[in-house]
Amino acid sequence: MSDFELRERLTSRPDLADLHAYGAPQLDVAVRLNTNESPYPPPTAFMEDLAGRVAKLGLNRYPDRDFTALREGLARHVGTLTERLWAANGSNEVIQQLVQAFGGSERKVMTFEPTYTMHSHIARVSGTRLIRARRNPDYTMDPDASAEAIRLGRPEIVFLCSPNNPTGTVIPEETVAAICEAAPGLVILDEAYTEFSGGSLWRLVEEYEHLVSVRTFSKAWRLAGARIGYMVAQPSVIEEVMKVRLPYHLSSLTQAAGLTALDHAEELSATVETMRHERDRLWNELSTTKGITAFPSQANFVLFRCESIPAPEVWRRLLDRGVLVRDFSSTPGCDGCLRVSAGTAEQGERFLEALSDSLRPTELSDIP
Ligand SMILES: Cc1ncc(COP(=O)(O)O)c(C=O)c1O
Repeated sequence: MSDFELRERLTSRPDLADLHAYGAPQLDVAVRLNTNESPYPPPTAFMEDLAGRVAKLGLNRYPDRDFTALREGLARHVGTLTERLWAANGSNEVIQQLVQAFGGSERKVMTFEPTYTMHSHIARVSGTRLIRARRNPDYTMDPDASAEAIRLGRPEIVFLCSPNNPTGTVIPEETVAAICEAAPGLVILDEAYTEFSGGSLWRLVEEYEHLVSVRTFSKAWRLAGARIGYMVAQPSVIEEVMKVRLPYHLSSLTQAAGLTALDHAEELSATVETMRHERDRLWNELSTTKGITAFPSQANFVLFRCESIPAPEVWRRLLDRGVLVRDFSSTPGCDGCLRVSAGTAEQGERFLEALSDSLRPTELSDIP
């Protein structure tokens, strides 16, 4: 059967016809600054302890389905109760489970765009109707306008992202509170980058019981490859999530990695300050570069607009020089924008040099 015949036979979901697979390029280049990972591998002591822990696992048996030790450890680390803690394979899976549990047909999700693309992607895949509300042009969120959008749309799920990806903007606590007051259903506060900002708002979960705070080991904790994310939520929210999760969703290997990470929490997060510093340095340099507008960021990346040369062309010229960043120029609200992750100081230098070269007019059409 030809590929064409197979596609004809397996009728795909019409509601997903215009959806593209998540596709941040994974290219083998010298300087990878496109997916906001840490440039620093976890310390040797962590890797050795993990190897020791893995060597003792009985992989012939299914893992502890309720990952009790990891939940207890995470709860202690955060400072909350074990029954308010839930984990999955990356925060993306936590979010997917939440949308499976609280979304679905006849229900609505509201996002405030531009924001993390997986929020709307997961909503659409689950068959939940999507309402895209907007942020201000400077990417801040107006508490009154946001609350009004929620009152009008009455979504069962509201997504917030702070610091926001791809803009780096923090949502102030008063705005999160105003949105919680207005929201009729679940509010998912995605705090994947919170360690690079002033700190998590997870304690609001105690005041607003329909709020959940979602966190990850992928960014500040340097463990993107381990796929561990978690949330702080009310036990009744977690009970609903348990209905949709797959049995034994957290493998013994993942649980071992999570427990080992908790033993090494301090060393793992020791690079946060260096990464913040690098983010600020990138922002300072970009802000004083002719032809670039840089947006303030509290995460481990900086979004910037290319004013003189089309962003896809700048992206390609950077890649030709061995530097991979993320192109957001086709995202509504981010026209002309690229996003660069804070890597090592040396990677930052290579990026800045490559950018300076890339912005030099090489063709008549580049001259504004
Ligand atoms: C805002 C935000 N949330 C969640 C994630 C997913 O992280 P993970 O699934 O690795 O925990 C990302 C990854 O880039 C992100 O930017």
